[in-house]
Amino acid sequence: MCGIFGIVTEKEQRLGPILVEAARRLTYRGYDSVGAATLSGGRIDLRKDVGRVDEVAEKHRLAEMTGQRGITQLRWATFGEPSQVNAQPHLDSDGDLVGAHNGNVVNNVELRQEFMAEGMTVRSHNDGESCVHAVERYIDRGHDFIEAIRRAYGDLQGDYAYVIGRIHDDKLYAIKKGSGLVIGIGEGFTCVSSDLPSILPLTRTIVRVQDGEIITLWADRVELRSVVDGRLIERQPEAVTETMEAVQKGGYPHFMLKEIHEQPQAAREVLHMLAGSSEVETVLERMRTARQVYFIGCGTSYHACLAGAVYFAQLAGRAAIPVLAPQFIPQYLPAVGPQDVGLFVSQSGETKDVLNALQAAGDRGMACYGLANVIGSTLTKATASWLPLCCGYEISVPATKTFTNQVMAFLILAMRLGGRDVKALEAIPELMERTLEETARQVEAIVPWLNAWNDLYCLGYGATYPMALEGALKLKEITYAHCEGMLSTEFKHGPLSAVTKGYPVLFAAGPEDVPLIVSGINEVTCRGGRAIAIGPEDARLRANASDMITIPQASAMASSLLTVLPLQLLSYHLSVARGYDPDFPRNLSKTLTVD
Ligand code: M6R
Repeated sequence: MCGIFGIVTEKEQRLGPILVEAARRLTYRGYDSVGAATLSGGRIDLRKDVGRVDEVAEKHRLAEMTGQRGITQLRWATFGEPSQVNAQPHLDSDGDLVGAHNGNVVNNVELRQEFMAEGMTVRSHNDGESCVHAVERYIDRGHDFIEAIRRAYGDLQGDYAYVIGRIHDDKLYAIKKGSGLVIGIGEGFTCVSSDLPSILPLTRTIVRVQDGEIITLWADRVELRSVVDGRLIERQPEAVTETMEAVQKGGYPHFMLKEIHEQPQAAREVLHMLAGSSEVETVLERMRTARQVYFIGCGTSYHACLAGAVYFAQLAGRAAIPVLAPQFIPQYLPAVGPQDVGLFVSQSGETKDVLNALQAAGDRGMACYGLANVIGSTLTKATASWLPLCCGYEISVPATKTFTNQVMAFLILAMRLGGRDVKALEAIPELMERTLEETARQVEAIVPWLNAWNDLYCLGYGATYPMALEGALKLKEITYAHCEGMLSTEFKHGPLSAVTKGYPVLFAAGPEDVPLIVSGINEVTCRGGRAIAIGPEDARLRANASDMITIPQASAMASSLLTVLPLQLLSYHLSVARGYDPDFPRNLSKTLTVD
């Protein structure tokens, strides 16, 4: 997810430090490239590159940049690979306009062709450049800036926000269509940004921009106009009183809850990114002819590997071996070679256990690919090719949105490998939204009595087995209760002896596995235990379980993924009920760089 920031001041000054700090405060969104442009005295200074904010700032001496206006952008690649030319901001053909965007211009490819056919200079593959040329096109036809932005709006399809400026001018202009945009008003300056964290250190007086609004920023005032008819819009500024921490949590009490609710949008992003990606085709091509396919990860990422193996078998008829990274070495390493493929899965891309397995597999010639969230991490550099999880930063230690996007990525891979239409997955983000909405109350209702227990099980079968393991990991990670995840059919082979009156056992139920789950439920309830079923509404589950948490009706594959959402919510609420901080559980760290 990209981030943009623009500032207009009264006179030329050193804007570099402000731009670098604004960029730093947008890094939580995830990015691969950084750029800045300043405008003043008939000149545009543009500096940009691939890398971390501090690296690019040092290499290109961003802090030294001066100007009366400035723009900075963090780019997270969608159109065009991460490279200096694709980094933002972008210039127009003759270099007197400069702009940067956040979002996706979905008709970027067609627009680039039109611009080139019209004789414009198109330097990159990035859709941010298309925003600049779309405005240039109408300025060159004699329209004023606002009219040019209004006309460009008709040409640019998708959700985006951009900020743009011109050499011989003293203003910046911006527009919002679907992506976040906020204005800041300070003493002697105004600014605009994708999000508040980059504005609040400068001013606490803000104006929230709505979709379809064009903004003009002068140093001492701002003006909002409707893109539809150009009319002026009156909006009073408001004062932000929350702390920076509260703002960063987006109004949620904890990062974990915020990240749980970001899952539908993150799922949309990963679908957009991987559904037609040629990188995915490269990985699949290798898997098609491989002797053996391994999915390798730790903790939550390993659970996604387990789900991936079920999807590969069911949707593509391809066997894959999910394996915990440290166990890969004793159990499989002596048997692997160049005919085999490994997909190494890690949110951080820095987990030592995963990197050890990757190193060992690479030494034996195995084809190694990555699935990671953190761009620029060791995993992304050490693999032949890697696929992004597109989640932005995940701050809370318990993984939530990165898990569901790992599962989404596996679903996309399996569908594409099986020659199926990935469009079938497009319903999932909305189903996730409904699941979060519809299960919130049901989950909260069981927290008070469940809180009395410090020992429980979480069971699943088939595609819900990995979800049960993941739910159990979340529960033990942040509630400090002992919660074991298990295949439901294994429960009778020993753990059943733990069941006493009221003993809690959670069941994640897929629509196709109800009869088997009902058997498991009865083994628990007939011994006085309390069985909580999580699944789509089903008379058999309702009649047999002690409690039921209902998720929306969906296909078997989507349904399995949905069962994990109430389990995340349950662990979150139990953790809070116990007075713990779910974001930072004791003894744990987000990135484990030790053996
Ligand atoms: O960054 P990784 O995905 O490689 O991390 C692996 C595990 O340490 C991680 O998934 C851990 O289990 C989570 N904190 C669980 O919520």
